[in-house]
Amino acid sequence: MQTEGRRSYQRSQKVPRNTSAAVNQPLSAKQFDHPLSAVQIEYSLWTRDVEAEILPLCEELGIGFVAYSPLGCGFLTSKVGDIAALRAGDARRNMPRFQGDNLRRNLTLVEELKAHAAAENCTPAQLALAWVLTRAPHIVPIPGTSHPHRLEENAAAAALKISADTEDALLQVFAPGAASGLRYPENHLVRLGI
Ligand SMILES: NC(=O)c1ccc[n+]([C@@H]2O[C@H](COP(=O)([O-])OP(=O)(O)OC[C@H]3O[C@@H](n4cnc5c(N)ncnc54)[C@H](OP(=O)(O)O)[C@@H]3O)[C@@H](O)[C@H]2O)c1
Repeated sequence: MQTEGRRSYQRSQKVPRNTSAAVNQPLSAKQFDHPLSAVQIEYSLWTRDVEAEILPLCEELGIGFVAYSPLGCGFLTSKVGDIAALRAGDARRNMPRFQGDNLRRNLTLVEELKAHAAAENCTPAQLALAWVLTRAPHIVPIPGTSHPHRLEENAAAAALKISADTEDALLQVFAPGAASGLRYPENHLVRLGI
């Protein structure tokens, strides 16, 4: 159907669960039932797990990388400082990074992000998105918002040119492992096979 032009893509969960196995074997896009045009995985300043294997593999195979939750579920905007302010039922109330000591430690990272954003004359959200966009051309962040003015703010990040010094500083501040707490509750990660 794809070659006949009747379908442009197929959604599939059939990617190797063990990505290191995928990297260690000669793998070509043809090994999948259908060539993958893109994968969608969490990627942001504070969630950088994909950098070691998945991003280079996508680049090598010509697979687009859609970065979900590029604002750290809103945390990297600096607008989430108190879990009590989140509405009842907000999933972030259950996320370890938004709780207790983890939250307090993670807020110190966001303070640094805020300072760098001020130096770059942009908002923390824009800097977080610009950073994702600088990582590689095959990466497309998809920030979520329910506010039109934030949609415009976020879209403007695509035109930002952040300095090499800022990029280096953010790489240090948000070095892998810098964020405190799991990104999802442990039982949720188990269900995802992570
Ligand atoms: N494939 C998957 O498994 C998966 C999992 C999770 C998410 N996703 C997708 O990824 C996309 C985004 O993820 P996400 O919404 O979880 O996280 P996100 O984009 O990292 O953060 C969204 C949060 O940030 C806030 N926000 C957005 N722009 C802002 C700004 N400029 N200033 C202040 N706050 C701002 C939003 O609140 P307001 O609405 O109040 O602006 C919302 O609470 C969505 O399309 C979602 O469907 C995919």
